[in-house]
Amino acid sequence: MFERRYDPDYLASMDLANDPEPKHKMSLGTALSSVRWAERRAEAETRAREALTAAKRRLAARWMPVVAAAAILTALVLLGALGGLAAFAAVLALLLAAAVWPLDSTAIIDAISGNTMTSVGTRQGESERNSWCAVIDAIPTAALALDATGTLLHHNRLAAEMFPRIRSGLPMSQVSRSPDLLVAVDRALASEEERIDVELIERVPVERRVAATVSWLARSGKPYAPHVLVTFRDLTEQDRLGQMRADFIANASHELRTPLASLRAFVETLQGPARDDANARKRFLQLMASQAERMTRLIDDLLSLSRVEMRVHLPPRGIVELNETAAYVCQSLEPVAEAAKAKVTLVREGAPARIRGDREEIVQVLQNLIQNAIKYGREGGNIEVRVGRDAPRGASGAKVWVSVTDEGPGIAPEHLPRLTERFYRVNVTSSREKGGTGLGLAIVKHILNRHRGELRIASRLGAGSTFTASFEELGTAA
Ligand SMILES: Nc1ncnc2c1ncn2[C@@H]1O[C@H](COP(=O)(O)OP(=O)(O)OP(=O)(O)O)[C@@H](O)[C@H]1O
Ligand SMILES: [Mg+2]
Repeated sequence: MFERRYDPDYLASMDLANDPEPKHKMSLGTALSSVRWAERRAEAETRAREALTAAKRRLAARWMPVVAAAAILTALVLLGALGGLAAFAAVLALLLAAAVWPLDSTAIIDAISGNTMTSVGTRQGESERNSWCAVIDAIPTAALALDATGTLLHHNRLAAEMFPRIRSGLPMSQVSRSPDLLVAVDRALASEEERIDVELIERVPVERRVAATVSWLARSGKPYAPHVLVTFRDLTEQDRLGQMRADFIANASHELRTPLASLRAFVETLQGPARDDANARKRFLQLMASQAERMTRLIDDLLSLSRVEMRVHLPPRGIVELNETAAYVCQSLEPVAEAAKAKVTLVREGAPARIRGDREEIVQVLQNLIQNAIKYGREGGNIEVRVGRDAPRGASGAKVWVSVTDEGPGIAPEHLPRLTERFYRVNVTSSREKGGTGLGLAIVKHILNRHRGELRIASRLGAGSTFTASFEELGTAA
């Protein structure tokens, strides 16, 4: 990267005093752009000064004959050649002629206001300025307009979010540090190129990949009218979604490939060395069945996830009573809990806890949370399933919830925000050994999104975890 030390006086002369970055460190591209901006501004100011002098000259030329005529009239009155009334009428006629004389006001106003940024509105006409500012405000992505010197005239709210230092009157080099963008703006101003696309990485306030389009607007003739429009499109979200999709496909195929590879290995062994070994055949067939079961589970989970994702915007229509549903799931998981020597206790809420929901999906949520507590909790430990209600708070209605608490080893805080990601597992090997695919909590999260519900996870290492799914109670929704 090109970097150069600059004299602080030189920087101050370019109005970089408020620069939050260290003054002595700036990229060569940024510095060159600042110099070009200063040159262009100096040029515009010289033009404005010349126009002011010409206007003053025109004003002087205009009043000269009036003053001369007034002097002649005064002389005639004094010499007695003109009567008092006639002299008064002549002076009146002169002043009237001066007022009606066509005035080149645009040139004068241009000249007077041309060297200050604040008078752009006066010079250009308030309504004209308002209308192009309104267009920039209405652009649905970050957008800003620059004048002929590359100085910022106006920006919309999204541009202010993208560039925290942005302020009208700043040169582009103080809005963005990207050398590519500054070069594109310079090129558009110099060559009047209609459209230049550049890609930049903005690091402040957070790192983002941004596509910028620099468009040259038709020349208006006025130096402070918008000459260049720069629009930005944040590609970070698009990148993130693309990455997530790629990760998901990679994870899903990896998860399927592992049991498939072991199935093929067993088949080859049974066809070859273990062909006549009855004991080995029995053992291998058992292992093959468990691998096939794992693949079925994974495909079921993937299908379930895609079904829930497809329906996420369709609000559920049924009514679900949480006490009854929790009792049903606890009962259906009794054999699993027994096999793990775990004891599941249900604590019901006194009154019915009804929500607007899809019973099958709520059963799926509770099944995964209770199965997790059995799988990852302490062997022989207690699992408490509790149904409860929170009184209405502020604008939101009463909440009803189901919590599942185990006495397992707990989950370290750094894992908590990622648990609902697809295929995320705290310990991949141990989870796989327990038959986990890492999709359960992702399905839970999607189901809760569809139900406008919420998943809270509280965990203490060595003490256990509590997963709580809460919902707006039916009839109290705000
Ligand atoms: N009660 C719990 N205690 C400790 N860790 C947990 C608990 N519940 C979930 N986890 C961790 O969160 C990870 C993700 O859980 P999730 O339910 O999404 O997947 P899974 O149980 O591994 O697979 P699946 O639910 O698809 O069979 C688990 O692999 C485990 O590491
Ligand atoms: Mg699970």
